[in-house]
Order: sequence, then structure tokens, then C-alpha cells
Amino acid sequence: MITINEKRVLDRINALGKVGIDAEGRRIRLAADDGDKAGRDLVAGWMKDAGLRVVVDYIGNIFGIWETAENKKEQPVMVGSHIDTVINAGQFDGCYGVLTGLEVIQSLKEAGCKTTRPLVVGAFTNEEGVRYSPDMMGSLVYAGGLSAEKALAIVGVDGTVLGEELKRIGYAGTVEPGFIKPCAFIELHIEQGPILEAEGYQIGAVENLQGISWQQITIEGEQNHAGTTPISYRIDAGLAAAKVITFMRDRCLKSNGKTLSTTGCIEFKPNAINVIPSKAVFTVDVRNPNEEALQAEEKALAEYLKELEKTDKVKITTKRLSRFKPVLFDEGIVKLVEKYAAKNHLSCRRITSGAGQDAQNLALMCPTAMIFIPSINGISHNPKEFCKDTDMLAGAKVFMEAVSELAEVK
Ligand code: GLV
Ligand code: MN
Ligand code: MN
Repeated sequence: MITINEKRVLDRINALGKVGIDAEGRRIRLAADDGDKAGRDLVAGWMKDAGLRVVVDYIGNIFGIWETAENKKEQPVMVGSHIDTVINAGQFDGCYGVLTGLEVIQSLKEAGCKTTRPLVVGAFTNEEGVRYSPDMMGSLVYAGGLSAEKALAIVGVDGTVLGEELKRIGYAGTVEPGFIKPCAFIELHIEQGPILEAEGYQIGAVENLQGISWQQITIEGEQNHAGTTPISYRIDAGLAAAKVITFMRDRCLKSNGKTLSTTGCIEFKPNAINVIPSKAVFTVDVRNPNEEALQAEEKALAEYLKELEKTDKVKITTKRLSRFKPVLFDEGIVKLVEKYAAKNHLSCRRITSGAGQDAQNLALMCPTAMIFIPSINGISHNPKEFCKDTDMLAGAKVFMEAVSELAEVK
């Protein structure tokens, strides 16, 4: 079995982690911003150095392709993830999957291996969805779940248009998304949660992924004086927003840990200490591994908003930002992950992905699964996100062996 160049992949993860640091020391590479461009240039350069053919599609997904005259008629095996980040991010989320994917291909190529199937590593645009909704956008477009035309016209939270930003940074590609139809997709990723570490497992064989519902809620009340307006006279958009947050929190507590709800963005108008807010605009991210249960949460929230309009005299509108159903990954690839974890004497358990992933969209195209490694203290979407080198290399070993079997290394 071919082994990867461990130093090279760890050095690359650390080097990419240094890209996109702002004046406050925060790591920020939002889709198609300057930090993302710098990250893309670095990774695309490494793909070229490895001798891969680099192709960028309309939505800015970058692919490094390794095919030979003998195997180029076969359906490729695809690996990959994303290199865009949240605000003040860690350095492993997504990047670990792209760079180990590149490493697996480069190591096989350098060892002079022949494979029945070509190998492709993808870095998908806008997985995080912080600047442009929906999240997992590049892979969604790639798999045909959203047209490139519509996605490129999406306006971001900063008023920019994705298509114009991709052009500006030089990543508006010329190839139709979906141009390669893989026979299988496998994504190596950090868990981003506490389970593997807490239970002492080295590998997670990811068998499914929970559903995700994103909405933006706008509540309109009446701007008034904080000192002179008795409580019973107020139409307080801020208070109504707080009630929505606690309503969803209560739903989570009643769901036996299945439902998760987060309000990560909130803005009041006029946002002044002594003024009752006339407007609250905030997001609600709701997740549940079961589609019916997720729909029930969405329905409960919609009914509660109607009730609030009556009780609090506010006006409420909602905007759908993103909606993904739960996904079941391919049993055959999950078993392959378990097989190679066992072969390498690595403890492994099946696990659900709580995070959205590019793999969930590739699952629309081909048999797909994921491999997780432990996230120390379960911290992610935070600069304290950390994974041990030994765990990263163990995950990469299982990844290499699973990919080698799928691509039929001779
Ligand atoms: C992706 O990072 C997500 O929000 O799950
Ligand atoms: Mn990720
Ligand atoms: Mn993420």
C-alpha cells in the first residue's frame, strides 16, 4: 500500500491556515473574497505542482484531475471538500479534506501507480454560506440542485453579487458544473463535534447527515422612547425576536437532543441604547436528522410567528435562505471506511454529520460517504478548532486505502 507524504500534507494544512488573516488576527476566507482568492491561488498552485490538470467550472469550483491515456474513459473517483471559511475560523474545516485529497492523488502519482479510474480532487465554492446563501452552494450547483445562472446572481450579505466577485478574483470558470460524473465520492473531514474524542474513537464512518433549515426573519415594531413608553404601550421588535429565540430553544430541549436551533445573526434598527427597536432582522438555523421532525419544527416556528403577530402586534416576514433534507450515505462506502479502519487497528464508530457538507450534494450524483477524525474538545467554527497530527494522519491512511480500492489501484 502506498503511503502519503505526511510532512507535505501537514505543512500544506498549516500554510493554508495562514492565508486570509485580517487586521484583527481573524482567519476569514469568505466565498470569493480576497482571502478566498489567496487560498485558491495557493491550492490551485499545489494541484499544478502535482502535475494535475486544473479546471474551474462556472460556479468557481476548482478541480485537480489526474487521468492517464489508459484510464481516461472510465468514470473517475472524486474526493474533496472546501477551503472557504466562516468568520474567525479554524484552519481544518474543509481544508483537511481538500489537502489530504490532493495528497492521496499526488502520492499515488509519484509512486508510479496505475489506477483503473481517474482521480479528481475538488475544492467547492462557498460551502460555508456565510457571505452567500445557500451554503454548500458550489457542490449543490455541481450536482444539479441549483442552476449556475441563479447561483451566480445571488446577492450576498454585503450587497455583492457572487458571479461578479468570482470574476473579480479570477475564478469565474468556463466549464459546465457536473462536467465530471464521478462513480464515487468520498470526503475526509474533521468531526467538528465532541463525540469521537469523548468516546475514544479515532475514526468516524459517517453514515448520514442531518437536515438543515435556514431562514431570515424580519420583525417590524414601532420605534419609541425607552424612558417614556410604558411596557404595555410598546411594539418591541427586539423583544419579539428574543421570544422567537427562546421558543426555539424550548423546542430543542423538548426534542431529546435531536433538534438544534441557532440564531447566529441579529440586527436591530435603529440599534440605539435608549430606543425601542423598530426592526429586528435575524437568522434561524434549525437542524434535525429526521425530515418529518424537521418539518414539524418549521411548522411550529411558523405558527409561533403568527401568534406573535397577534400577541405582540408586530409584523413578521420570513425569507428562506437554505433547505437541505437529511442524507443517507452509501452503505458500501461506509463499510469500506470501517474495513480500512479495522485493518489499521483504528477504533471506529458510525456517526451522523451534524454539519452540512459538500458530500451531501455529491450524494445526489453518485455513491458517497465521509470519514471523520476527532475534533479536540469538539470545537469548530472557532480559531480554537484543533486536530492532532496523529489523528489527521490516521484519517488520511484510511482515506488513502478506501480511495485506492475505489479507484482500483493496480
Ligand atoms: C457548515 O459548516 C454548516 O453550517 O454545517
Ligand atoms: Mn466543512
Ligand atoms: Mn464549516
